[in-house]
Amino acid sequence: MKDKICIGLLGLGTVGTGVVKIIQEDTCNLVEKVGRPIVVKKILVRNPHKARGVNTDAVITMNVDDILNDPDIDIIVEVLGGEEPARSFILRALDAGKHVVTANKNVVALYGREFFEAAERNHVDFLFEASVGGGIPIIRPLKQCLAANHITEIMGIVNGTTNFILTKMTNEKLDFDVTLAEAQAKGYAEADPTADVGGLDAARKIAILGSIAFNTRVNLEDVSVEGITHITAQDVDYAGQLGYIIKLIAIAKETAAGLNVRVHPAFIPKNHPLASVNDVFNAIYVKGDAIGEAMFYGRGAGEMPTASAVTADIIDVARDIHHGVSSRILCTCFDDAQVCAVEKTESPYYIRLLVEDKPGVLAAIAGVFGAQQVSLHSVIQKRKEEGHAEIVLITWRVPDGNVRTALRILSGMPIVTKVQSVIRVEAEEIDGI
Ligand code: NAP
Ligand code: HSE
Repeated sequence: MKDKICIGLLGLGTVGTGVVKIIQEDTCNLVEKVGRPIVVKKILVRNPHKARGVNTDAVITMNVDDILNDPDIDIIVEVLGGEEPARSFILRALDAGKHVVTANKNVVALYGREFFEAAERNHVDFLFEASVGGGIPIIRPLKQCLAANHITEIMGIVNGTTNFILTKMTNEKLDFDVTLAEAQAKGYAEADPTADVGGLDAARKIAILGSIAFNTRVNLEDVSVEGITHITAQDVDYAGQLGYIIKLIAIAKETAAGLNVRVHPAFIPKNHPLASVNDVFNAIYVKGDAIGEAMFYGRGAGEMPTASAVTADIIDVARDIHHGVSSRILCTCFDDAQVCAVEKTESPYYIRLLVEDKPGVLAAIAGVFGAQQVSLHSVIQKRKEEGHAEIVLITWRVPDGNVRTALRILSGMPIVTKVQSVIRVEAEEIDGI
């Protein structure tokens, strides 16, 4: 038996640096927890001359072969990010018989099945706790602690950038563009925030969570995605007046029509557990038949929170190595539930229209919704301006396809100046409005 467990770290950026710090400082007593020391032996970077936030005795290399071909290295920790070369390096590591830990949701969402098959073939572990929710434990809880449950719903705020923006829009009554600019200036949002504000980052995460919660492979293309770029201060204000708060939610839910997997901004009742999750914090709310409701809350990103999850995976693998076991919990997608088309998903909707202010307009609009079987819960005239009226409609729970068809017809009618907003209401009931 080797006297220590050696790691090859791919990447020494934000997360990699945090991992090195945790292992070096060892405030968590690694030897006692694992049974043997854990040592970072080699690190792959792009630029060996870059100043780093940590001093390390590890060999720094630009050649991945130095790491993948090193027989002393037991665990590869992929914290490069992106699709390639991360995917190829992970597959090569697994095929070389090395255990792999990754924080990379891009590759897990797209190539999870391929990684699990390679891990199974080679009798090694493949762990990815940090890929969703940063420091929040959620993958392991779903796969292990909640394994005795039939999960019916998983709903999360899994993107810190958009949660920061929406929190600021809510508290300070600011529009999206102003808030995004501030988030970028403060370093919360990336220089290119497209994947965050467009919902793709959250879509990757819910594809991973949905696959685990429902034991069914949920592909990224199965997720219906809508971001927050069209949300206005006016919508946030009306949501507040109606007793709701707007959040970007990622949801995977079992319904009679099949699995419902989507990312979109939604009106959440102010008393929902997710409504009080603010700023860059993330939370994942789970419903199971045995546990009932549970919520996991914390920091979804950042150097040390994310390194906490990555290092916990390293500890898990190291324990397996120490005890001579491996690949105990790999792919859990033994089922094949159907993901239903977005048009068939049902919600109540908040709709804001700018219309001509003259007799008969409301009746004509109600007629279009009625013809598409969209039942209206309430209609409120909010503002008037120069021959136009702004009306807010709340529908009962209706299929998405029916709402979209009604809105397409309305958009072509001269009495409708503009369909300003369409936002789902994510609530069990809407009687409070
Ligand atoms: P990062 O700061 O950009 O660091 C990436 C590291 O990988 C850098 O050290 C870079 O080398 C190295 N690298 C990238 N491409 C490379 C290549 N082709 N060859 C060699 N080295 C390469 O990224 P990060 O924020 O640490 O994120 C790492 C992973 O964690 C990503 O998958 C991300 O999605 C995930 N994650 C991050 C967070 C977070 O808060 N940051 C949270 C959850 C999950 P150089 O330093 O030489 O440029
Ligand atoms: N960009 C992500 C967020 C963090 O804003 O939450 C990494 O997953």
